[in-house]
Amino acid sequence: MTRANGSSRLLVRDIAQLVTPSGTLSPLRGRSLGDVEVLEDAYVLCEDGLVSAVGRMRELRELGGDIEGLDARGMCAIPGLVDCHTHACFGGDRVEEFSLRAAGASYEELHAAGGGILSTVRATREAGREGLREAVRRHRGWMLAAGTTTFEAKSGYGLDRETEIASLEAIRAGGGIPTFLGAHTVPPEFDDADEYVDFLLAEVLPAAAGVAEAADVFVERGAFDVAQARRYLEACREAGLAPRLHGDQFTELGAISLAVEIGARSVDHLEATGEVGIGALSASDVVGVLLPASALFLDRPMPQARSMVEAGVAIALATDFNPGSAFCESLPVVCALACTQLHLSPEEALSACTVNAAHVLGRADRAGRLAAGYAADLVLLDAPDWRYLAYHLAGPVVAAVVQGGQVAWRR
Ligand code: NIG
Ligand code: FE
Repeated sequence: MTRANGSSRLLVRDIAQLVTPSGTLSPLRGRSLGDVEVLEDAYVLCEDGLVSAVGRMRELRELGGDIEGLDARGMCAIPGLVDCHTHACFGGDRVEEFSLRAAGASYEELHAAGGGILSTVRATREAGREGLREAVRRHRGWMLAAGTTTFEAKSGYGLDRETEIASLEAIRAGGGIPTFLGAHTVPPEFDDADEYVDFLLAEVLPAAAGVAEAADVFVERGAFDVAQARRYLEACREAGLAPRLHGDQFTELGAISLAVEIGARSVDHLEATGEVGIGALSASDVVGVLLPASALFLDRPMPQARSMVEAGVAIALATDFNPGSAFCESLPVVCALACTQLHLSPEEALSACTVNAAHVLGRADRAGRLAAGYAADLVLLDAPDWRYLAYHLAGPVVAAVVQGGQVAWRR
């Protein structure tokens, strides 16, 4: 409710179980990844967009003045989910390719034949500025309905100056946190990857750095090698963007060593990462972002998540939402995959897509926890136990989403 002085208060009351990752350090790793606090019969008080208090109903003090109430009887509350890796700005779809893959074609073959990412590049260039804004709005609506209140999205389907910048601006306008993924693949106008990186750094980065917060590169055969990725990320870091990488999706080409060397925020995918890579990551501050929906969608091996957690790697979970390798915007589905395929506990999965994901986005002080001073972003689950988040595979578990202290979505 907005009061005469413009301030607003919302009391979410009678919550059956409220759960939040504990502690104040991030990212959480090792044993502490599974440390969550569960409060039974709880409330959350939101004031002016922030959580001002969390506690048990029986400890709730008398609240005077105008206040809106949200009855959460029979429901559980978790922090608003944080999706730290999406490609939510794209034109067209890849449903044709999906059918071809179902009939046996491989993702890499389709990419090498000029389909895959490049077919989305063609559709994205044709979409125009308004088309891209509309696409982000639509995808953001899907994410919100799945409980995501903070999301990152990458460019990388423009690969020319105009469309890369239009993509980053559309993401910003749609409430997302933009990442410059100019180095996603080499577009047809360029003969080789080095020439294309020269173009990106000279012609696109100066404008991209004014809109994006981070930069990302796809290190893979047929995309960019480590030397090209280093040159791109060092220049992006100079321009003020936080470095991130797509690495070890199909092959271990050295993305982890590069991530550690340049102090990247994260290295994402890691389906092909073995013991040596896990060792290097565990001794670093780089977060390993795991994308099990992408491994499932492409029928690839899952990353060695359990070994990573045991070794002390700081991991996060994300959807990788995109039209080709992971047409899935749901972090609850990702949590289900994390528990069934990656052998994480529901507690570990929750921390990985809240507080640790917020750390990857440089927002660990604001997002990913239900505690005083954090953004008033929370999800009400229509479930008697919060672990239904991961347990009810693709079920209608999200009942309502509060964002910035306002009810933003309701089933
Ligand atoms: O993270 N691996 C590279 N990029 C995306 C896929 C993009 C696409 O297929 O359109 C990913 O999986
Ligand atoms: Fe990705």
